[in-house]
Amino acid sequence: MRITPSILNADLSRLAEEIARIPSSDMVHLDVMDGHFVPNLTFGIAVVESIRANTSLKLDAHLMIEDPDLWAPRYAEFVDSVTFHVEAARDPALILKEIKARSTRAAFALKPGTSIESCADLIPLADMVLIMTVEPGFGGQSFMHEMMEKVRRTRALIGEEKSIYLQVDGGVSLDTIGEAAAAGADTFVAGSAVFKAEEPDAMVRLLREKAHASHAQ
Ligand code: DX5
Ligand code: ZN
Repeated sequence: MRITPSILNADLSRLAEEIARIPSSDMVHLDVMDGHFVPNLTFGIAVVESIRANTSLKLDAHLMIEDPDLWAPRYAEFVDSVTFHVEAARDPALILKEIKARSTRAAFALKPGTSIESCADLIPLADMVLIMTVEPGFGGQSFMHEMMEKVRRTRALIGEEKSIYLQVDGGVSLDTIGEAAAAGADTFVAGSAVFKAEEPDAMVRLLREKAHASHAQ
């Protein structure tokens, strides 16, 4: 059970300090948005490179951008895991290969309207599959419970292969993480739940405990 907090809801003018508040994170989730693939704009490769230089925590880049065929391998130079959206990709299998060629974990993401069956062939090529539990673009949205069926089907396709992570992103909190863990997710993005908490790092540990407890049931 891995917790990968998103800094989207942190104070973006104090990134290094905000990241220092979550030392228990398994990876720090960086939401890269280009204002085209999603209707919001965050930060790009220069900021990601600066974050890399200022933390020893693992970095998980979630690219909500057009042209991941060009950009995903470039981000792979600076982070530990790169996730791109299949909806934006021309050759997703090649992108996964290009990311891995840089010794970086390679992942693909699905918007709520995209079926996992349409990408089943990519699963054995990936190190992680991200099932979005909100429409990508903004933090602080409500968890889409109806995505749990897709999480269950994805878990069935992955099987018990522990090296392929199954991540959910959007609306994950103490109220919803158990449901996602029970459906088969093992890696959880949480943005507002962590950064709106009084003690973000304590929240990371609480979320992980809750996920463990629900998975075991
Ligand atoms: C949404 C982003 C998420 C977001 C999660 O497009 O991909 O990572 O920051 O934020 P919360 O946990 O607040 O839904
Ligand atoms: Zn994200």
